[in-house]
Amino acid sequence: MPHTTPLKDKAACGTKPAPPCTLVIFGAGGDLTKRLLMPSLYNLAGAGLLPEGFSILGVDHGDGTDETLRDGLTRTMEEFSKDPTSEFHAASIDRKSWGFIRDRLHYLKGDFEKPETFQAVKEAVKGSAVFYCAVAARFFGTIVDGLGEAGLLKQEEGTFRRVVIEKPFGSDLASARELNARILRQADESQFYRIDHFLGKDTVQSIMAFRFANGLLEPVWRREYIDSVQITAAETVGVEERGGFYEPTGALRDMVPNHMFQLLCMVAMEPPNSFEAEAVRSEKAKLAEAVTPIPPEDAVRGQYTAGTSEGRQVPGYRDEPHVAEDSRTETYIALKLHIENWRWAGVPFYIRTGKRMTGRRTEIAVLFKPAPFKLFEETPTDDLRPTVMRITIDPEHGISTEYNVKVPGPEMKIGRVRTAFKYSDFFADTPNVGYETLLYDCMIGDATLFQRADNIEAGWAAVDPLLSGWPQATPAPYAAGSAGPKEADDLLARDGRHWLGIDGTTD
Ligand code: BG6
Repeated sequence: MPHTTPLKDKAACGTKPAPPCTLVIFGAGGDLTKRLLMPSLYNLAGAGLLPEGFSILGVDHGDGTDETLRDGLTRTMEEFSKDPTSEFHAASIDRKSWGFIRDRLHYLKGDFEKPETFQAVKEAVKGSAVFYCAVAARFFGTIVDGLGEAGLLKQEEGTFRRVVIEKPFGSDLASARELNARILRQADESQFYRIDHFLGKDTVQSIMAFRFANGLLEPVWRREYIDSVQITAAETVGVEERGGFYEPTGALRDMVPNHMFQLLCMVAMEPPNSFEAEAVRSEKAKLAEAVTPIPPEDAVRGQYTAGTSEGRQVPGYRDEPHVAEDSRTETYIALKLHIENWRWAGVPFYIRTGKRMTGRRTEIAVLFKPAPFKLFEETPTDDLRPTVMRITIDPEHGISTEYNVKVPGPEMKIGRVRTAFKYSDFFADTPNVGYETLLYDCMIGDATLFQRADNIEAGWAAVDPLLSGWPQATPAPYAAGSAGPKEADDLLARDGRHWLGIDGTTD
């Protein structure tokens, strides 16, 4: 299973450098290129996973030359390495690894809407290529059309031509279907790599190993033993400078049919027969297709107001840059969904995600059904809480389980304990900003961690009733730095349940 192996180990255990190819980045001047793609390529170079015959062609509309691109990206690499809040911070930049990347950078000025741009790309690219759309979503279809019409997606004998498409892939079911149909007119499904950066996280990938490489879990991982599942992605950051993107998008589109559904698939899909891309992706699609469309009454939208976040006063969403003062965009969403299959029928899955929440926590919590408690008739029911297993992805990677034991002493008194492990206690931390594995896998043609068309469409189909049937009401307010709106608590209280604490507590 190459994609769960840390980068350094990939080289050490004999994983070969990717085959020679050109990485063409549309949007070379953008934030994604600077913040994530360049640091990832640098880390791949450091791990010896890029081939000698590797080059990068950056395409963007601004003026520039190879040298200005090289100098600009060297500067941003240095800046990010010193910034403790960036995904890429390092004591220093290794000159050899960055030199490998720097010397291979080339620049092409071009308008994504003009055929001349693609002719110029054609002149520059010989052999295998990965075309990376690191651009705003409105250009995805345009770029794929441009590539197809210029003949750039034809795969000659022994070479490959692949396209990486960022999220958001569509803005609802109809537009996702349209985009899929449009790109598939230009090339085969196997040439498209729809990226979801959550799948680049090692802990997300390791959910498969945790579930399927341990005999302990599989027998109880089902409706007979599991009461409910809570999937949380809570962030402390606000919308930052991304108001322009976020206003028409909102928390539901930004996070749910993509990132949250990837977590859902990992925790709930059936075991695939192999780690072959199609085997894994078929199980995920099957799971996502079994989710019943979510009715608006099973969801709550929220929007943050001014408050205190991480010890400082922060403005409300409507006062953020590029946000309308009467905006109805949700910055928080909580919902309940059902999976109609033999394993999960009747088990509610609760999903919540929001910005400016009380803490940073991405996790999947599995709440088991209570034991038959006749034996403990005398014990206060509050002491007999069910077993909870939490798979935490951020900020710390790890797994913990809370369960009941006997408190030492003469009486049979029940106490709550927790066993926990952190990945960092067992495995060396490898430099990783999250895109390394995804870029490498795309170059070697392993699509396991990328979304197939049916997987994407199933995610949108599940949330579509929310997008089309939602009254355009103002979202419920919640103070920045809080756990979300009260209405989200009511959603679970209705079922006699409550959310687990964002700080890691179960109360
Ligand atoms: C992005 C969303 O895809 O994921 C952001 O557009 C969100 O709004 C981010 O903040 C969360 O990713 P992570 O890896 O920081 O949890």
